[in-house]
Amino acid sequence: MDHDDLSFDDIDELISPRAEETDFDRVVDTALSRRGFLGGVMTFGLGSFLVGTTALTGDARADSDRFGFSAVPANSNDTITVPDGFEWEQVVAWGDPITADAPDFDEATRGTAATQAMAFGDNNDGMSIFTRGGRTVLAVNNEYTNRKIMWGNNPDGKPASGDDIAKGMMAHGVSVFEVARDDAGNWQVVKDSDLNRRITPQTDMDLTGPAAGDDMLKTAADPSGTTTKGTWNNCGSGETPWGTYLTCEENFNGYFSAADEAHEVTAELKRYGVSSKDWGYGWAKIDDRFDVSKNPNEPNRAGYVVEIDPFDPTSTPKKRTALGRFKHENAAVVLAPSGHAVVYLGDDERGEFLYKFVSHGVYAANGDNSDLLENGDLFVAKFHDDMRGEWLALTPDTTGMTDAEIRIHTRQAASKVGATTMDRPEWVAVNPTKAEAYVALTNNKNRGKKPNAGGDDTSANGPNPRVENHYGQIARWMPDNDDHAAQGFNWNLFALAGNPDVHDDEYAGSENINSGNMFNSPDGMAFDSTGLLWIQTDGKYSNEGDFAGMGNNQMLAGDTVTGEIRRFLVGPNECEVTGICWSADRRTMFVGIQHPGERGDSHFPGGGTSVPRSGVFAVRRTDGGLIG
Ligand code: FEO
Ligand code: CA
Ligand code: CA
Ligand code: CA
Repeated sequence: MDHDDLSFDDIDELISPRAEETDFDRVVDTALSRRGFLGGVMTFGLGSFLVGTTALTGDARADSDRFGFSAVPANSNDTITVPDGFEWEQVVAWGDPITADAPDFDEATRGTAATQAMAFGDNNDGMSIFTRGGRTVLAVNNEYTNRKIMWGNNPDGKPASGDDIAKGMMAHGVSVFEVARDDAGNWQVVKDSDLNRRITPQTDMDLTGPAAGDDMLKTAADPSGTTTKGTWNNCGSGETPWGTYLTCEENFNGYFSAADEAHEVTAELKRYGVSSKDWGYGWAKIDDRFDVSKNPNEPNRAGYVVEIDPFDPTSTPKKRTALGRFKHENAAVVLAPSGHAVVYLGDDERGEFLYKFVSHGVYAANGDNSDLLENGDLFVAKFHDDMRGEWLALTPDTTGMTDAEIRIHTRQAASKVGATTMDRPEWVAVNPTKAEAYVALTNNKNRGKKPNAGGDDTSANGPNPRVENHYGQIARWMPDNDDHAAQGFNWNLFALAGNPDVHDDEYAGSENINSGNMFNSPDGMAFDSTGLLWIQTDGKYSNEGDFAGMGNNQMLAGDTVTGEIRRFLVGPNECEVTGICWSADRRTMFVGIQHPGERGDSHFPGGGTSVPRSGVFAVRRTDGGLIG
């Protein structure tokens, strides 16, 4: 099966087809009740959800220039475009050595499993920077591999040997490495640093928290259900106030298969998209763990947030089952006024949910916080159409499930309590200057068309107001009493992406979207220290039809007070822009470019006829000034 033109959700649906919404009456009923609610709202248009843009009028627009840069026009150029007065440089790309004894990337062979295990992984995504004692470490997720590029030296673009499969496997996980500026001021990997480390699908890890030791986590290799190997499909990320890195396992299901394709997986695994067919990685051919007919519990040991100490290369990463198991996007950590650690978590699949974890323990400055994510309460978001919302507790009482079941079958628990189905929650970002949080809801072509994988109704709802949503939106919530641990919140929409040149209805987008800044599929998102919201896209780059005028995937900045959104960067062909962090002095912004040329039309960053490679890039002002 050729999956190249399909999204991960499409592949899941192809393998496990989902019924079209057939309960016509239910759809009509819901639409009618919405009409009752929207009756008044509709006279103002969907913009009425958009509290932020009410300030975006005349003087507010003219006066607001917290951006510090001029907008970059959309383009379809095979390079990175930044505003006048800014420059960029490559820091590291797929296959570059991160240990002193690893060879340089070999264009002809694209390396071996052994060289890849010592080199920067493929398809970098979320990342964080850590600075301690004058040393700077980047921790970067390597989400997955582009098969036709990874094995593009083979005639059919597929693995030709067990080592080829293992090379692909070693390109997954996390790359941790020290960086420093050279004499010319450019950021370089410190190849001989004792802090450098590759974390791969074979790295030893602990399973911790409420599900640790449960029967559902036990396998032949680990009869205790408390230790496991590796992490893969590491998508977004997070960092804690106590200096650890959080890497989030997203589409973990696509790596499992069964030698017998007729093998039927359980309903519990189906909810997560696990099946007898993988997505072309072939891991079960070299490691029985990934054969779900032989190791039916192995998929229960993936789909978590993993905590890593970036300054201790000998430390054992910890899978935090307390934060639930789903297709984790990122992990946005904030301390409540009480000192409890609050972690916002999205489950990126059509019609899945938005979650919140609140630790049982409280943060101790200069104390031991290493077990703060070990235990805590898990909640799922319910958005009401009256612009209020609440966090529904997932407990044995509310779900009829054991605590371990809630942490392992978290999607099922959330369905039971009637959480709000969302348009694919990608990153959550917490405003450092104000008690509010934002979530990128990237798109959902099934909205109003098909139920989610658990059969939950997906009629249009407050924060997900458009059926067949190809553009996506950004929602935000303000917790009661400015306390992220509170149960209740107010919400509204910061932006509805759309194309005002093509549409004059709700698909034109919200008032803060115009011909000069339009984009689709917001995904990566982070606040800088000044409170500007940086938005990265992973959308359609055809620049045609519904997407005409949007160009390549890009990064924009949003002023959350005025609602203004301005394009800062355009990525190369067929890439996603994902992953962002800042140097300690705020004079460098690191930006990730993922899968340039995923369909064969890029030679970024090398140019000429070179192999396209994902990488991390440093962006600075040419005058050396602050950037975020
Ligand atoms: Fe890996 Fe949902 O993005
Ligand atoms: Ca993403
Ligand atoms: Ca995405
Ligand atoms: Ca991607």
